[in-house]
Amino acid sequence: MPPSSRTSHRTARLVVLVSGGGTNLQALIDATTASKDSPTAPDHDAEIVAVGADRDDIEGLARAERAGIPTFVVRTSDHDDRADWDVALADAVAAHDPDLVVLAGFMKLAGPAFLGLFGGRTINTHPSLLPSFPGMNAPRDALDHGVKITGATLIVVDAGVDTGPIIAQVAVPVLDDDDVETLHERIKTEERAMLVDWVGRLAHEIVDHRTTTSGEAS
Ligand code: GAR
Repeated sequence: MPPSSRTSHRTARLVVLVSGGGTNLQALIDATTASKDSPTAPDHDAEIVAVGADRDDIEGLARAERAGIPTFVVRTSDHDDRADWDVALADAVAAHDPDLVVLAGFMKLAGPAFLGLFGGRTINTHPSLLPSFPGMNAPRDALDHGVKITGATLIVVDAGVDTGPIIAQVAVPVLDDDDVETLHERIKTEERAMLVDWVGRLAHEIVDHRTTTSGEAS
C-alpha cells in the first residue's frame, strides 16, 4: 500500500463503499469505534471517516448514520455515462482524504479516474475463493458448479472484475442442503472476520510507516 503523506494522525483514514446491507461495514464500525459494551476504543488503528454508496435507502448507509459517520451517495443515474460517474465517485471519496478505501459489498466496478487516485490502496472483499466465481453472484455460481469448498477473498482492486492481487482468503465448506442464502451467510461470517483482521493489519502498517517516516515516536 502506498503511504499517505499525512503525518499528524495516529489512525489510518478509511472510506468504505457499500451497495447493500452493510454487515461487513458494521463489523468494521464495531472494530474501529468505542461502544457502551466496549467503552475503550478497540485495538484498531483505523478510523472510518466516511461511508459512500451508489444508491439511496440501503441499510449500509443507515448503519453509518447510526454510528455518526458521514455518508455520501453517487448514483450512476445522476451522470451522463459511466466515465462521468467514475470521476464523481473519485471526487466524493477524495473529499474525505482516505489512506485506504474499502469496497464492502460495493456492486460497481472502479473506473480509471477512481483507480488513478486510489489504485493500490483500494481493497475489495468478495464471497468466493478467487479466481473462482468472480462477479455479482459468487455464492450462486459456486452452488451451481457443485464445489464442496468455497470462501471469501480480499483483493487489491485493479481494473478487472475481481482480478486484483490476493491479500487474504478464508475457506468455507458447502453443505449438501445449502441454498444461496445459507451459503452466503456462512461465507459472510468468515468474511467479516477476515476483513476486520486485514483492515487492522493494513491500518497498522500505514500508521507505522507514517510514524517512521515522520520521526514521531509510536
Ligand atoms: C459480501 O459477501 C461481499 O463479499 C459481496 O457482497 C456481500 C455484501 O454483504 N460482494 C460482492 O459480491 C462483490 N462482487 P454486506 O452488505 O452484508 O456486507
